[in-house]
Amino acid sequence: MLNIALPKGRLGEKVYKIFEEAGYECPSVLSNSRKLIFENEKKGVRYFWVKPSDVAIYVERGAADIGVAGKDIIEEYSPEVYELLDLNMGKCRMAVAAPKTFKDDPNRTLRAATKFKNIASKYYASQSRDIDIIELNGSIEIAPILGLSDVIVDIVETGTTLKENDLEVITEIMRISARLISNQTSYRFKNSEITALKDAVAKVIASKE
Ligand code: PRP
Repeated sequence: MLNIALPKGRLGEKVYKIFEEAGYECPSVLSNSRKLIFENEKKGVRYFWVKPSDVAIYVERGAADIGVAGKDIIEEYSPEVYELLDLNMGKCRMAVAAPKTFKDDPNRTLRAATKFKNIASKYYASQSRDIDIIELNGSIEIAPILGLSDVIVDIVETGTTLKENDLEVITEIMRISARLISNQTSYRFKNSEITALKDAVAKVIASKE
């Protein structure tokens, strides 16, 4: 049995449909119940819905053999997992953004609000820039508007949130998409099952490009 952690939400549902097309169906997964674990014994799969930012933890610790996590989470938490496949979905970018009126003074410590403190630290260290990180859990865009920070380091998908709050992208740090990840021990002991699933999913994705 392969234990598969899916990110709860719209992206997870799209991902599940790809898995289904690849031959790993378990129709009850999409039933609108409050249930979180679903199994198709015949296909040898057990799916569960977890918070997107928790997928890597389930996989790293072996509660799930494989899962789907955003590259942002993988970069931020550096879980000890194998990254098997770029699913080419959930595409967005990690960017530095600021109010349109913002003028940077390189001699001042820059205050950056973010949910991704490691990505932000690493990026500014590479620029040899001193920063003061202000860790928030959401609605990051509000921080520079209220003077809590100078810039934000956050995910930009459509750009609507920035636009509606009079912010703009200053620098793109990295491109992000959903990745298929595997627990390292599972990859050794369930190699044929995991490889078969990976190949079948890769085929479905390639057929859509
Ligand atoms: C993310 C991100 C931005 C928004 C970007 O927030 O933090 O706020 O999406 O999307 P857009 O470019 O399409 O407008 P999320 O919805 O995850 O909520 P959060 O406020 O909890 O971070």
